[in-house]
Amino acid sequence: MISKKQNYPQIKIIHVILIVFSFTACKSLNQKSTDLAGLKNVSEFPIGTAININKLINDEALMALQISNFNSITATSDMKMREILPAENQFNWKKADTILYYANKHKQRLFGHNLIWHSSTPKWVEEKGAKDNVWLGEFMKEYIHKYVGRYKGKVAGWDVVNEAFESKGSEYRKTFWYNNLGKEYIANAFRYAHEADPAAVLFYNDFNIERDTTKLDAVLKMVEEFKKEGVPIHGIGFQMHIRMDTPDEVIAYSLKKAAETGLQIHLSEVDIIFNTHNDERSGGIENYSSLTNEMKQAQAEKYKNLVLMYRSIVPKKQQFGITLWDFTDRDSWIKGFFNMKDWPTIYDDDLKPKPAYFGFLEGLKVKIEKE
Ligand code: XIL
Repeated sequence: MISKKQNYPQIKIIHVILIVFSFTACKSLNQKSTDLAGLKNVSEFPIGTAININKLINDEALMALQISNFNSITATSDMKMREILPAENQFNWKKADTILYYANKHKQRLFGHNLIWHSSTPKWVEEKGAKDNVWLGEFMKEYIHKYVGRYKGKVAGWDVVNEAFESKGSEYRKTFWYNNLGKEYIANAFRYAHEADPAAVLFYNDFNIERDTTKLDAVLKMVEEFKKEGVPIHGIGFQMHIRMDTPDEVIAYSLKKAAETGLQIHLSEVDIIFNTHNDERSGGIENYSSLTNEMKQAQAEKYKNLVLMYRSIVPKKQQFGITLWDFTDRDSWIKGFFNMKDWPTIYDDDLKPKPAYFGFLEGLKVKIEKE
């Protein structure tokens, strides 16, 4: 739920920033001959994409674009618990190792997504853990120690806990983990990850926190509690699965508030849709069935503004990076997950750069005057 305007005291400053930005935005965001050198080459912070590793290494065209644009990589699902430990004692490191090999070969940062997420908990863990929460607590500790330890010094940072709050509002999500271990499972997951790799940057990652200020406040309250208790948290991941009508002012406000914690800020799963959904699998609501030129330009503006907000609001030393969640409309998860048509990314179905690509690029290139 988006709260009312009076909740945004800093909104005026941000408005000014946005007005400055829209000045250069009047030119249409289309290709210039020098523009295809790659996003990472014009960025001061890492530019990443999430991707399915087997799809990537079996598609030369996709791989060429991935290598030229990105210097950070995240697995869409290949590093989640269901992939890593599908059955008891059967660790499956193959895909994680492949993505690590790829990252090293192409000098990209590998980001770990994720350690604990209710949506990717294997069935066997749920069955066993529901009967024995002492076992579950021990299991979580061993899993994190073993996994993070194995990739110590190789995975730069982790989404330690993903989506521990309800989709909307301030409540902790009543997941399998919460129900069996209490909310302390979150702090413990961070402690275990830190024990296994003290240098890894540890994130709490969630969605809707850029638009639902009640949810954001709840996450920030947790962060403050962690800091007081000495729980090793180093970053906040804004998934940033946004829609064309998610107000930039609210996004700006949320980024500013989160940055005030002093933690790293990662835009960790960026995409921008035209249609909408109810946050649930298959919950798509299709208002648009085709993509017009106007829509493409508007999306380019939205991408550009997002990058500009990140650059101007998040202090440099807290800019962990911007990661896209797949970078082609062909491969985006939106269609399959929400069961609706959309065009969320910066490359189209034929792997051609969309105006959104040039908007993103422009957002990285515009000179920002900081006070
Ligand atoms: C998604 C993957 O992209 C899909 O392929 C999979 O079917 C479901 O998960 N938030 C997250 C990601 O934190 O892990 C999700 O990834 C997208 C939403």
